[in-house]
Amino acid sequence: MSNQEVQKTEQAQTALTQRRMILNESSPFALQEAYKTLRTNIQFSLRGNACKRFCITSCSAGEGKSITILNLAISFAQTGKRVLLIDADLRRPALARLMVEKAAPGLSNVLAEQVELAEAIRTQIHPNLDVMFAGDVPPNPSELLSSERMQSLVEQISKQYDYVLIDTPPVNVVSDCCVIASLLDGVLLLARQGRSKKEGIKQAINQLKLTDAKILGYVLNGVTVKTKGYYRYGYK
Ligand SMILES: Nc1ncnc2c1ncn2[C@@H]1O[C@H](COP(=O)(O)OP(=O)(O)OP(=O)(O)O)[C@@H](O)[C@H]1O
Ligand SMILES: [Mg+2]
Repeated sequence: MSNQEVQKTEQAQTALTQRRMILNESSPFALQEAYKTLRTNIQFSLRGNACKRFCITSCSAGEGKSITILNLAISFAQTGKRVLLIDADLRRPALARLMVEKAAPGLSNVLAEQVELAEAIRTQIHPNLDVMFAGDVPPNPSELLSSERMQSLVEQISKQYDYVLIDTPPVNVVSDCCVIASLLDGVLLLARQGRSKKEGIKQAINQLKLTDAKILGYVLNGVTVKTKGYYRYGYK
């Protein structure tokens, strides 16, 4: 096999693995239950508010934020609530790739006043779940995310949805998550088994506390669960 063919096969395998990781009716029972438990815990933490808005972050890159917030959004949508999922990782957007959709127009285009909000919200992808992808990668993500337009966008969408879930970049790497979390009801801090470091997690907690962001809870990704007969739960 030529190098190009090997690369294509590897890309196809990665795409297949990514698709299998997205929550659906035939996902393993343990995976479905894990998301239900996470959903229920968040519902308890956020009870009372009309529209519940939260984001996800982790200390460093590649720990599983994007796949987790996507699956969590699907899990909330399964309850029949109106859910909006936003990709606010304007630097390394992932949700459009995961959902095999085009990223633009999206959040960056709305913030740069290139399109209206309604044009950037995709409504036909999944039942009860609308998605706003990241849009074109901008040269000034921090500036856009800390703009007044971002604040008024959050206020506007809060009137239209029961839940707004937002994907953000790692909190120890850039300040975007802190800016976004300060506009929301809370933030989930994700760590990945065998990968996230204790010091990194401590630093992330301090960063979030400095901005008065409410930490709703912690998510441990990549755990191998042993059940009867050593059934292995995981993505791989
Ligand atoms: N529990 C898991 N088991 C196996 N692979 C996983 C798991 N969680 C995430 N991955 C894989 O790790 C990679 C990174 O996942 P993802 O893009 O969700 O992370 P991220 O934290 O959003 O990364 P970034 O910081 O770049 O935005 C992806 O290829 C994903 O398929
Ligand atoms: Mg991501």
